[in-house]
Amino acid sequence: MFDEALIRRLRAARHIAALTGAGISAESGLPTFREPQTGLWARYRPEDLATPEAFARDPELVWRWYEWRRSLVAAAEPNAAHHALVRIETLVPRFTLVTQNVDGLHERAGSRSVIELHGRIQRTKCSRDGRLVEAWDDDGAVPPRCPSCGAALRPDVVWFGEALPPGVLERAADAASECDVLFVIGTSGVVYPAAGLVPLARRAGAAVVVINTAAPDAPPGPDEWHLTGPAAKLLPALVEQVWPDEGR
Ligand code: OAD
Repeated sequence: MFDEALIRRLRAARHIAALTGAGISAESGLPTFREPQTGLWARYRPEDLATPEAFARDPELVWRWYEWRRSLVAAAEPNAAHHALVRIETLVPRFTLVTQNVDGLHERAGSRSVIELHGRIQRTKCSRDGRLVEAWDDDGAVPPRCPSCGAALRPDVVWFGEALPPGVLERAADAASECDVLFVIGTSGVVYPAAGLVPLARRAGAAVVVINTAAPDAPPGPDEWHLTGPAAKLLPALVEQVWPDEGR
């Protein structure tokens, strides 16, 4: 079903890396960022809420939006694509998973070393000094206040225009430049610096395998494959064809 050259390339790989985005969690019921929104918050654009400016302007609105997103994450389960990545980790000598997602579903599925570029939605930090906060008094303030300094609390995620957590980009860049194959799964690839990992891997000679429901804008280049369809269907099928009956 999949291209034989791709199958051979994956079987020969010593180090596979994967960059994932919101699309890999779509089939777990979590909304992506740049596709039409549905549900309670459909009239807001995520790009307009996930910014320091939005939080400064209307912290209650932004906190409530994250509260809603946290409730979706709490109700969600990892899907077959998350599980397929766990399986790949057991089948190749080296595997590095880099995610832009803040939902924690890769770890919940069982992936061991996940590089989270954009933080984790379930963690909360002080908006003044960035210190993680685990508990606070619920006195009705929205957002709640930092127990040490009284500043507003915020989710421990990276907003547009903010720096990534120290060290994570370096580790992700090392993986991209050292891997034999890079999977690019469920991401629009428009947000930097994450998007820069793909050309980095390509320049270093890696094959690139894109899995996305959207068809590519241009025909794939050499050593590049574009699998069009839902990740939860395509990725397990690919793993099954490359490594039948192994690692079970
Ligand atoms: P986007 O919403 O920009 O893109 C989601 C991608 O997933 C699109 O290309 C869809 O075509 C694709 N997609 C949707 N359903 C899919 C499925 N079932 N299987 C495979 N692909 C599917 O999300 P990201 O690329 O993750 O950053 O966005 C990048 C960053 O921008 C996010 O981490 C977040 C956001 O603003 C911050 O918050 C800093």
